[in-house]
Amino acid sequence: MKVQDLKHAGLKKWVDEAVALMTPDSVEVCEGGQSEYDRMIDITVKAGLATKLAKKPNSYLFRSDPSDVARVENRTYIASKSESDAGPTNNWVDPAKLKETMTGLYKGSMKGRTMYVIPFSMGPVGSDIAKIGIEITDSPYVVANMHIMTRVGTKVLDVLGSNGFYVPCYHSVGKPLAAGEKDNGKWPCAPMDDKYISHFPDTREIWSYGSGYGGNALLGKKCLALRIASVLARDEGWLAEHMLILKLTNPSGEVKYVTGAFPSACGKTNLAMLIPTLPGWKVETVGDDIAWMKPGADGRLYAINPEAGFFGVAPGTNNDSNFNAMEAAAKNTIFTNCGLTEDGDIWWEQIGHGAPGKTVIDWKGQTKPAPQTDKSPKGEEIAHPNARFTAPAKQCPCIAKEWEDPKGVPISAFLFGGRRPSTIPLVNQAKSWIHGVFMGSITGSEVTAAVISDQVGQVRRDPFAMLPFCGYHMGDYFKHWINIGKKADADGKADKLPKIFFVNWFRKDAEGKFMWPGYGENSRVLAWVFDRCDGKDNCVETPIGNLPKPGTIDAPKGVSDAVMKELCSVDIEGWKKEIADVRKNHYPKFGDRMPKELYDELDAIEKRLGV
Ligand code: PGA
Ligand code: MN
Repeated sequence: MKVQDLKHAGLKKWVDEAVALMTPDSVEVCEGGQSEYDRMIDITVKAGLATKLAKKPNSYLFRSDPSDVARVENRTYIASKSESDAGPTNNWVDPAKLKETMTGLYKGSMKGRTMYVIPFSMGPVGSDIAKIGIEITDSPYVVANMHIMTRVGTKVLDVLGSNGFYVPCYHSVGKPLAAGEKDNGKWPCAPMDDKYISHFPDTREIWSYGSGYGGNALLGKKCLALRIASVLARDEGWLAEHMLILKLTNPSGEVKYVTGAFPSACGKTNLAMLIPTLPGWKVETVGDDIAWMKPGADGRLYAINPEAGFFGVAPGTNNDSNFNAMEAAAKNTIFTNCGLTEDGDIWWEQIGHGAPGKTVIDWKGQTKPAPQTDKSPKGEEIAHPNARFTAPAKQCPCIAKEWEDPKGVPISAFLFGGRRPSTIPLVNQAKSWIHGVFMGSITGSEVTAAVISDQVGQVRRDPFAMLPFCGYHMGDYFKHWINIGKKADADGKADKLPKIFFVNWFRKDAEGKFMWPGYGENSRVLAWVFDRCDGKDNCVETPIGNLPKPGTIDAPKGVSDAVMKELCSVDIEGWKKEIADVRKNHYPKFGDRMPKELYDELDAIEKRLGV
């Protein structure tokens, strides 16, 4: 479709301005559909950027640049009008200054390339909860990924009409081509210091430059569905969260929907698709990364998954850890930074087997001896630790039938969690909404490869798993959560809100071995949560919250009663340290925007712990 044919005058003007600034060789408005997807892939294959996989139908492998392998948090900006609105945990630059810098970078940045205008819907097209974005990009790889991750095309323009609201998203890889120059197999991007992932919350705009990877470039995901949406949600009274959504069915056929907030690469995708080891229980997937939730007239929170695909971490995914994800990515999938086997299949660390043949090509394009096992020494990985698959959600064998229901699904429980080797028990129910908000606010996790950081392996506090994704001051974000509880109270509907739980699959013993097997065995914890939501007598009250009554979670094979007991008890000394760290190092970060209600919770838990 041509730009002239756009019916939305504001949109047309915005595209025209972008064309004048970025000077692409040609412009195309994306219509969606298989033939457009195939054409995008074809362009990348011809440019030497993609390899067709012989072993997986309609699937392709891409290798990115070593400077462009993950989200770049120190190049990510929240440019609100006032610095204090971005808060101390976001990078802030004055929006006018940032636009000036980036306008300079965008000038001529699409020379030699085609500009694609992608109309996309986050959420089922036309749903009340959905939002429309328009991404301008010079990357056919981004267009193809957006086709999988969002709903793209003219159907979105139809809903937008001639004056509808959309979030304008600029994206350029920042590698203009000289006359006759081709990418020629080299992933186009700009050097690290020129990469910018910028958000303008006041004007609801996104400007991304210099990266073609993941959340830096697929702007519907972290940029729109979390950073900008969190601001919309604050202003409009709903929640945009970094949460999976799962459907849990018990042996009597009763259903509950549960969401879970975990930092990146903590197994959200695995939990969303788990195969229960507990007989008679069933888990189905509604979403694996983001939940948008709005209060319904009945006082319950209704959640939709704004995405249409999975952008999953490949290493560690195998038929045991996540059979359903392997199936979802068995065809029509884009793989990025995985290894390539001689017979034309992808390979990654912990895929469950060695690589066939004599050699493999690693994510940097180098030929290496084929690994005999599925492990590689640190630093010598065949797949990048943040290698990804982009797979259509509808291909997941356990996708819930209501996953595209425009009304959303009513949520019974929120789980918060992270990778915590010590102190935090297997599962712990908050005593109240405000106690749950407190627990969400102190969430922490060991830093993983999902982000470029020098802190990998250290515990970092990541409140609500939203630290890298909240588009405004975290203190105000906590207040927003508190207000949701207060409003429900005032409406006499507090009991309709989800119950809040904290879980930890990652406890380690003195030898550094995981104490809990995780994966499918986590169904034991989900079952306990399910019963808790029904008010079953399965818990004991402790100073930190409601823990499982002994015997209400059966130990999985290989977990002794003693270990089970340790996983489900309060480590008073550890908690005293935890709380002291929150008081001394964590809460003060948020200054005077830290809600008093949370300091009251802190006082209360200290008292209960006998500090
Ligand atoms: P994640 O997403 O960090 O939540 O895994 C990655 C990305 O969007 O790049
Ligand atoms: Mn995520």
